[in-house]
Amino acid sequence: MRKPYIAGNWKMNLTPSEAAKLATELAAALKGNDRKVMVAPSFVSIPAVVNAVKGSNIIVAAQNVNDHKSGAFTGEVSTSQLADLGVKDVILGHSERRHIYGESNELINSKVLFALENGFDVVLCVGETLDERESGNLEKVLGDQVTIGLKGVAKEQMSHITIAYEPVWAIGTGKTATPEDADSTHKVIRKMIAGLYDESVAEDLIIQYGGSVNASNVKALMAKENIDGALVGGASLSVEKFLPIVNFDK
Ligand code: 13P
Repeated sequence: MRKPYIAGNWKMNLTPSEAAKLATELAAALKGNDRKVMVAPSFVSIPAVVNAVKGSNIIVAAQNVNDHKSGAFTGEVSTSQLADLGVKDVILGHSERRHIYGESNELINSKVLFALENGFDVVLCVGETLDERESGNLEKVLGDQVTIGLKGVAKEQMSHITIAYEPVWAIGTGKTATPEDADSTHKVIRKMIAGLYDESVAEDLIIQYGGSVNASNVKALMAKENIDGALVGGASLSVEKFLPIVNFDK
């Protein structure tokens, strides 16, 4: 039985004070709630958010991390710097990292391996552009992102991996994949995992859907067999919008 996992990717939004305020409100609103919930603030907001959610079961994640221990990597953040703040979860391979900052499957793989080695849980994002979908390359693109992204990840490490399927054309556009389309793509991803590992790893894998998830569409998405959670952007930036997503079944 896969436990639903709802995550909010705050992207480059909110100042540290605004992030702390939102995190405080969210922790209060989720008191006593045992749903698996994560928020990913900007690096500079992480200390304030960690402090604000103390005592709650909200996971604080980073939106990226470097694949080296330390050294001359100007502008980068290391796993040990995050760990020192109490962070042990990270989103990797987000489409904005892939498409705006040119991160390759190989670089993302290196980050995945390094984060896992250093005790992190990883949300690995995958997803196709509209061009890739319309040219019939959906499965090839996802296949590369999954296979290269997870290269060298041992079967025993797979319990530390969540996959987020985020079709690029659905991110921030108000266009969501239909629950049927998202479910069938999740099924394809699950099958890839069964091929790379085995049926039981595939069966246990949490696959989140991301791309314009909101309070009105989350229930239908989450009702699908292969959709186990959501990675939410815009609608995670206020308690009013995010809470009904977390509580999609209430
Ligand atoms: P939106 O929910 O704003 O479409 O963003 C999705 C996303 O990219 C989450 O990582």
